[in-house]
Amino acid sequence: MSTFRLHVNIDHVATLRQARGTPYPDPLWAAPLCELAGADGITVHLREDRRHIQDRDVRLLRETVRGVLNLEMAATDEMVKIACAIKPDVVTLVPEKRAEQTTEGGLNIKASRKSVEKAIAALKKARIQVSLFIDPTEEAVKLSHDVGAPRIELHTGDYCEKQHDVRAQAGERELERLRNSAQLGSELGLHVAAGHGLDYINVAPVAAIAAVTELNIGHAIVSRAVLVGMECAVREMRDAMDRGRSQLVHATHGARG
Ligand code: PXP
Repeated sequence: MSTFRLHVNIDHVATLRQARGTPYPDPLWAAPLCELAGADGITVHLREDRRHIQDRDVRLLRETVRGVLNLEMAATDEMVKIACAIKPDVVTLVPEKRAEQTTEGGLNIKASRKSVEKAIAALKKARIQVSLFIDPTEEAVKLSHDVGAPRIELHTGDYCEKQHDVRAQAGERELERLRNSAQLGSELGLHVAAGHGLDYINVAPVAAIAAVTELNIGHAIVSRAVLVGMECAVREMRDAMDRGRSQLVHATHGARG
């Protein structure tokens, strides 16, 4: 197993399923394909509004994922109860707002310290590793350590948004924040992951941060899969159509004969 790990977030396979209410595409089918292709783990976010991943997905993934199953969730009693029953390998606590399109920032540990500490205690009791999704700041890394989280995931969203701003070198500044926070986390003995908004181009500078030992990537991979899988998917439909049509021809011939 690699010491630099890739966890694939398969939420958006479920987004496509939920858009039509069909049984497909099933994240249960996507997970082993990710693992066969080299993913070290599978990440899913069970949101309060169940907009993509469903409870059933997490339950069944627990039985089928061979590598690490990382469950992202809010630090609420409901979610902690579900996690303690299903027992993913890792729970990543994330902030959650109902109206947001996707997770918008790291946890505000100061403001939600009570609920975060309560969730960490319950999850640790259930022998689940806990990670906190935080902004890449010294304060957030230190607070994560203070509340007893053994893992952090640095939010790369600001870096991904600002890396295009070459003139202001905002991307480089964000990268520096990621480097410093990862280094501090590592010095404090924390397992340091990173993720959110990473794609095939902006991933390289983050992957070059030695203290980051795991990346969680979803949207870019699922999006790419739609494109690289398109040709095969159309061919399969063409074949299915042609098989159906050939039966019509046989039936007509049969009727005449
Ligand atoms: N890490 C966390 C904590 C997330 O909430 C998400 C999005 O669900 C990701 C990583 C993956 O982000 P993306 O889909 O942009 O790769």
